[in-house]
Amino acid sequence: MNPMKSASLTALQVLQDAPVIPVIVLTDVSHAVPMARALVAGGIRMLEVTLRTPQALACIEAIAKEVPEAVVGAGTVRSVADAKAAAKAGALFAVSPGFTPAVSQACRDEGLCLLPGVATGSEIMMALEEGYTELKFFPAMQAGGPAMLKAWGGPFFDVRFCPTGGVTAQNAAEFLNLSNVACVGGSWPVPADALAQGDWTRIEKLAREARQLKLR
Ligand code: 3PG
Repeated sequence: MNPMKSASLTALQVLQDAPVIPVIVLTDVSHAVPMARALVAGGIRMLEVTLRTPQALACIEAIAKEVPEAVVGAGTVRSVADAKAAAKAGALFAVSPGFTPAVSQACRDEGLCLLPGVATGSEIMMALEEGYTELKFFPAMQAGGPAMLKAWGGPFFDVRFCPTGGVTAQNAAEFLNLSNVACVGGSWPVPADALAQGDWTRIEKLAREARQLKLR
């Protein structure tokens, strides 16, 4: 079985697949499959569909069923119920804006690889205590940006981050140049207006450009 599709998927595999994990907000189930195909065509297959809209779970389900080249994950996982619903819909990984032991345990119970969110040293230490060494830094720009990550590189030398929140095509390189950054997350590869217009060509182009961003 493709390890990217099995319960053995690790957070490191999620982070190291491409320089950018697109953070996706979908309001129309009919957009899910063509959008996912456009991202895959542009070279990006780890897709974070946020649980922020009533359509999100159906979108995850559609991508999981119909786009086998994609690895779909659920974002905005804030509760045990979210983790269960995401796994049931076919998500293979979960991304949360913060860290709680309950969400961590629920993801383990569901076989969902979790990328927990942190914004402080204490949160990093809590996540480390639970065995997580790959973490989302959220909201990255607002909470200190590249300078914060550089500072964390001292005490938290063994942690790899995915900064998300305020990361753009313009500033992504500043993050990707840091040795403790494995990839970045951002909504820019899937703009709301491109979705509304069904402009899959634009999404594919944005994915291709994002794919070409370089890690140091
Ligand atoms: C989010 O939670 O919305 C993500 O962090 C994406 O943020 P962005 O729109 O600033 O990329």
